[in-house]
Amino acid sequence: ALCSSSRSIASYTHPHHASAISILSTTVDTSSPEFQGNARQMQQLLDGMTNLHTTIARGGPQKARDKHIARGKMLPRDRVTSLIDPGTSFLELSALAGHDVYPGESVPAGGIITGIGTVEGVTCMIVANDSTVKGGTYYPITVKKHLRAQAIAQENKLPCIYLVDSGGANLPYQADVFPDKEHFGRIFFNQARMSSLGIPQISVVMGPCTAGGAYVPAMSDETIIVENQGTIFLAGPPLVKAATGEIVSAEDLGGGQLHSTISGVTDYLAVDDAHAIVLARRSIANLNYPKTTFPLHIPSGESSPTIKEPLYDANELNGIVGTNLRRQIPVHEVIARIVDGSEFAEFKRDYGNTLVTGFARIYGTQVGIVANNGILFSESSLKGAHFIQLCSQRNIPLVFLQNISGFMVGADAEKGGIAKNGAKLVTAVACADVPKFTVVFGSSAGAGNYGMCGRAYSPRFLFMWPNAKIGVMGSEQLSAVMEAVGRTADPELKARIDRESEAIFSSARLWDDGVIPPAQTRHVLGLSLAAALGGKAEDVGTRFGVFRM
Ligand code: COA
Repeated sequence: ALCSSSRSIASYTHPHHASAISILSTTVDTSSPEFQGNARQMQQLLDGMTNLHTTIARGGPQKARDKHIARGKMLPRDRVTSLIDPGTSFLELSALAGHDVYPGESVPAGGIITGIGTVEGVTCMIVANDSTVKGGTYYPITVKKHLRAQAIAQENKLPCIYLVDSGGANLPYQADVFPDKEHFGRIFFNQARMSSLGIPQISVVMGPCTAGGAYVPAMSDETIIVENQGTIFLAGPPLVKAATGEIVSAEDLGGGQLHSTISGVTDYLAVDDAHAIVLARRSIANLNYPKTTFPLHIPSGESSPTIKEPLYDANELNGIVGTNLRRQIPVHEVIARIVDGSEFAEFKRDYGNTLVTGFARIYGTQVGIVANNGILFSESSLKGAHFIQLCSQRNIPLVFLQNISGFMVGADAEKGGIAKNGAKLVTAVACADVPKFTVVFGSSAGAGNYGMCGRAYSPRFLFMWPNAKIGVMGSEQLSAVMEAVGRTADPELKARIDRESEAIFSSARLWDDGVIPPAQTRHVLGLSLAAALGGKAEDVGTRFGVFRM
């Protein structure tokens, strides 16, 4: 057997020491055929995902990249790498954005690279246009990704650095990028609001900033421009000629010299990309903004100030989980490979145990874990709501490990008030104002998605594993329901629902912040916690709506 459902607590090596009684043990047999089969299936998925990420990371077509380099410009990923502190990690977000979204068009990473990196010790949100992808113009998914990066920055109070190199709106898609509330204009709205909240906005103009795009640098607190390369104007030379007959070069109309000496639109003039990045780093160094370290917290009072790694190998998650979502995934085995020292103080261990709740640390930061270990019943929902209240009262961030096919259905469950009890969990999740983080390690179905802090419940970050699936229900149940309401269950519908439930499909549309390998979950959560908590005091005033008792 892969793993028994019961679990034992490791022996009391130090009876006086609280951690010793909280250590999760493992019953995983890595030599079992089931484990090995699971591991193989997951590895296949991971290999496919790695290939996809590698292709996407190249950016636009070779021709566009050659042209970019011939102009003396650094490729956008190289710009990001040279911007962040050496030896630190860049937490890239939604690299799969735009994948297979626009028929016949390839839009790698949605034409924009976003992520969290450390610059001069300060955790920053970095937003970099990729002008090798259709001139860095904004598709609808580009806008969505830019806005998501800003939302993360605002919520986590991260200074924003925009590496601008974009032709502005992608004109054939103008109806889906320009007019609505969550469209192009919102980018500048966000810049103004963040600036007013004291969240710094820094722009580095490394290419064109045309029309609407001109407002990114113009709305920034400080702006750097590369001479003979960056341009800022409300209308480019062709439009000016058409409008007024004036003939003027791009450099004279909106180049670095003009803006740094005459118009005052920019504040610093750089000779090239590398120089501009040095100037951007200097601007961050002068923000007087709290620096963050990663790991964030070294536990105090420890004789050796090191973070305890989990006791078990994170690569074993592949074999524990596999890709068959119908099989129950033993969540204690997952937790044991994510949290410090595999230590987990389980709350209400023997009550409502299809939901596992408890306290742990991730890179030294205390968290409350809420993890699925089966479907949600009334008891498990109540337990979850109770635990979320505890963490909110104590200002402890919540980590949701989501693998949920839904709430229990049937006459008994309804008699037991599953609807009102599930609603208590949903209310608790919705109202808890502590930072929340969600990792979908299996299914994300139905109202279970709500109770377990799906996208609509504003987790600070939401990541999927490659095996994860998201949808109202599985394609088979969905076909059965459609048949029951008098529609033939056509195989095409089922195939489409299957495709639309995949993690890649989700990530391409920004329903999440990225698909991550299981073994990297601990590191990604650690970086996310550092971004959310780094150096800034949280104002927490959690208030709950009416709990229907
Ligand atoms: N919408 C859609 N596609 C656009 C575009 C736009 N606004 N601007 C450029 N593209 C496409 C080009 O058609 C070209 O596509 P292709 O590679 O399939 O041929 C690709 O992006 C690269 O454009 P190109 O002009 O070859 O590259 P460049 O690096 O020399 O110049 C720009 C890039 C963005 C400076 C230039 O194309 C430009 O000025 N575009 C118009 C910008 C504008 O006025 N936008 C309005 C904003 S509100």
